[in-house]
Formats: sequence, C-alpha cells, structure tokens
Amino acid sequence: AFPRRVKVVEVGPRDGLQNEKNIVPTPVKINLINMLAETGLQVIEATSFVSPKWVPQMADHTEVMQGINKLPGISYPVLTPNLKGFQAAVAAGAKEVSIFGAASELFTKKNINCSIEESLERFDEVMTAAKAASIPVRGYVSCVLGCPYEGKISAAKVAEVSKKMYSMGCYEISLGDTIGIGTPGSMKEMLTAVMKEVPVGALAVHCHDTYGQALANILVALQMGVSVVDASVAGLGGCPYAQGASGNVATEDLVYMLNGLGIHTGVDLQKLMDTGTYICNALNRRTNSKVSQASCRL
Ligand code: HMG
Ligand code: MG
Repeated sequence: AFPRRVKVVEVGPRDGLQNEKNIVPTPVKINLINMLAETGLQVIEATSFVSPKWVPQMADHTEVMQGINKLPGISYPVLTPNLKGFQAAVAAGAKEVSIFGAASELFTKKNINCSIEESLERFDEVMTAAKAASIPVRGYVSCVLGCPYEGKISAAKVAEVSKKMYSMGCYEISLGDTIGIGTPGSMKEMLTAVMKEVPVGALAVHCHDTYGQALANILVALQMGVSVVDASVAGLGGCPYAQGASGNVATEDLVYMLNGLGIHTGVDLQKLMDTGTYICNALNRRTNSKVSQASCRL
C-alpha cells in the first residue's frame, strides 16, 4: 500500500548546484532557496560545509545560510563530512546537518578521502557534537545500487552501512542511487535487505535519473512503504565525484506523480515550476523536468 503522505526533501540548492562548473552567484542561490520555501516544501537542503578546494561551488556556504529567510516550520539541512564542517555549519546558523557515507570503499575514498571505517569514526564525532547541541542528523548512504568505481554493490553491504549510521543516531537514512543505475528490480532487492536492519519509517530514497529509472524506482520504494523522497528542482545536479552522473529526479515530476497517486505532499506544483524556470534562466539551461517541458508546450 502507498503512504498517504510523502515528505519531499528538496536537494537542488546543494546536490543540484554543486555540480555546476561556473560559480553561481550567491544571491541566485539565496533567491532559489527562498522561492523553494514558498512552494510548501518542508525540507530544503541548502549547501554543504565541505572543503572549498574539493567543491568550490559550495565555498559560499556561510553567506548562503546567513542570507536566506529561514521560515518557521521549514528545515534547511546542510552537508557536514567531519567535525570541522559541523562546527562551521553551526556557526553559520545551521539547525540540522547531514553526514554522508557510502556502501563503496572506492567511492568513499574519491568523495571524502578516507575508508568507510574512517568515515564512520568521523561521523561519530559529528554525531556526538550534534547530540550535545540537540541538532538532528540525517545520514546518506551513496552507491546503494551501484558504484562508478566498483560497479555492483551488494545489498548486504548497503544494509550494513545503513544500520551503522542509523545505530549511531541518524534520524533518517537516505539511500542514494548516486549514478542512477538501479532498476525497480535492484531497488526492491536492496530495500528488502535494508528494511531488515532499519525501520522503513526512517528510510528515504535519493534517486539520480541518469538511466531514466528514477520515477520507476521511487514508485517501487513507495509501494514498499518508503515515505520520504529526495528530489531536485528542474532535475539539476549530479555528484562531482561520480563522473557522468546526472541530476536527481526533478521535484516537479515527483510531485506530479504523487498528485496523480493522490498522495499528499503539501507542495504547490505551479510555484515549483516557476522556481524551476527561475533557476534554469539564471543558469542559462533547459529544465530536466519533463512536466515543465510538457507544460511549456501546452
Ligand atoms: P581532506 O583533504 O582529506 O581533509 O578532505 P583533511 O582533513 O586532510 O584537511 C585538508 C584541508 O581541508 C585542511 O585545510 C582542512 O582544514 C580542510 P588546509 O590546512 O590544507 O588549508 N578541511 C575543510 N575545509 C572546509 N570544510 C571542511 C573541511 N575539512 C577539512 N569540512 C574532506 C576531506 C571531507 C574535507 C574532502 O574530501 C571534502 O570536502 N569532500 C567533499 C566531497 C563532496 O562534497 N562531495 C559531494 C557531496 S556527496 C554527494 O553528492 C552524494 C549525495 O548526493 C548522495 C548520492 O547521490 O549518493 C549526498
Ligand atoms: Mg546525490
């Protein structure tokens, strides 16, 4: 049975923009987040407190956090790979953070320059500091349906890393198909394994649409009881450490599908499409949202 409501986690300002080659002006990022906040979204991932040498696009994290209108009832989580990032995030006013691990050793090395084991030790430090500051922590697990460096990833490994991050105290585990390679078949197999270790109510899916499978994979996750879905307005994005990975499922397309299923999101599709138009104009690119493309032609 489908959930009655779904929480949409908008990751466009972070996952979407982190992959843009040209530096996006900070006021554009701030406008984007403020417009998203008017659409009814409850969660908007705003930026990441990672090394500016690694991801120059996110170097203005503090200015972004301090420039946005923080509306009541909306959370604006940020990525923090280690204690240094966590402390900078809190100093900039972040009230929620995300740690990000992976089910692949090689991806972990390329993305955050350590082994899975070391990453969990760093996350533990973030978690301890976050608990002391009463800051909720979300956990990402990347490469859950395949890795750009290792290829196939076993469902058992995904379940193991997810369990460790959940046991550490993450309130939610977002399962990332980083390179969008999964299918409804592999999504079902992976979720079956993970749901034995982490309650389904604490799971989210994060589907990149590289192979055009994102909505189908999300549909399977919904059928299995997942009720939190990550998406990126206009389908922006990718991961700088996963070459060729395209953006997340477009938030417009996700909301359109959920509307069609009668599943409540609280998100205003028209306002969302207007926001997609704004950011595509600012980046001088065409939207990746099929719904927006179709609506322009009508
Ligand atoms: P490192 O080089 O191993 O770090 O990078 P280090 O501890 O050896 O420190 C080296 C330098 O970095 C030092 O500065 C530190 O102070 C600095 P220096 O002395 O040379 O001037 N440093 C930092 N600066 C700012 N913020 C920090 C920070 N930490 C250390 N937090 C590190 C390790 C984790 C920092 C680096 O690898 C990094 O920043 N990686 C980020 C990669 C990234 O952002 N990837 C994209 C996000 S993940 C993603 O997209 C997947 C997801 O969407 C889910 C999915 O799709 O699957 C979430
Ligand atoms: Mg991603």
